[in-house]
Amino acid sequence: MEIHLWRELLIPYELAVKELVIKFNHLKKEHKEKDLYSPIEQVSGRVKTINSILEKMQRKNISWADLEEKVEDIAGIRVICQFYEDIEKVAEIIRKRRDMQVVEEKDYLTHMKESGYRSYHMIVLYHVETLDGPKDIRAEIQIRTLAMNFWATIEHSLQYKYKGNMPPHLKARLNHAAQSILLLDEEMSSVRSEVMDAQNSMLH
Ligand code: GTP
Ligand code: MG
Repeated sequence: MEIHLWRELLIPYELAVKELVIKFNHLKKEHKEKDLYSPIEQVSGRVKTINSILEKMQRKNISWADLEEKVEDIAGIRVICQFYEDIEKVAEIIRKRRDMQVVEEKDYLTHMKESGYRSYHMIVLYHVETLDGPKDIRAEIQIRTLAMNFWATIEHSLQYKYKGNMPPHLKARLNHAAQSILLLDEEMSSVRSEVMDAQNSMLH
């Protein structure tokens, strides 16, 4: 496909990513303004690169006609939480919003991937208005803790070095590290609940 056609295809995705990042950051701000704890710690977004779209189309045998429906992460948003329990709170906020229509949810929290990857994914339809008129954009929202993000970021960059052919003993070590991440998140939640109990007993 010609470069100017790519640009044209990706423009509404760029808009969607920008708007979604603004909206999630604003949710964090709203919590702060109301003196409420924010389940959102950090937000980022990106539009998939042309190379990476082409790679996925080849890998999954996706035709040009199916591109926008089957490559679900052309628009990608990542919401990072402090604690495991925050993930469900963010998911619930998204489910209730009228500007994001959830079409799919993938629970890699209770169903960890073989690699050890954990995260909660929501595929949403998001409406944008462009010069060419209205368009519903598919976006993938990944919700995970800081600890899960630490693991996924490093695993991804190591995986990249091996171009997907990581030796089994290294895969096993990363999987083991993922177990430690799970324990770490549990321990942090436990510490937090003790802190909150202590605060409550001081109030009463
Ligand atoms: P791709 O993996 O993107 O081809 O899509 P898929 O249709 O298999 O969807 P899946 O839900 O498996 O993955 C979607 C996204 O989750 C990926 O693009 C990554 O960003 C992330 N992800 C999935 N598995 C892993 C993993 O093992 N390690 C890391 N670091 N990220 C992963
Ligand atoms: Mg995958």
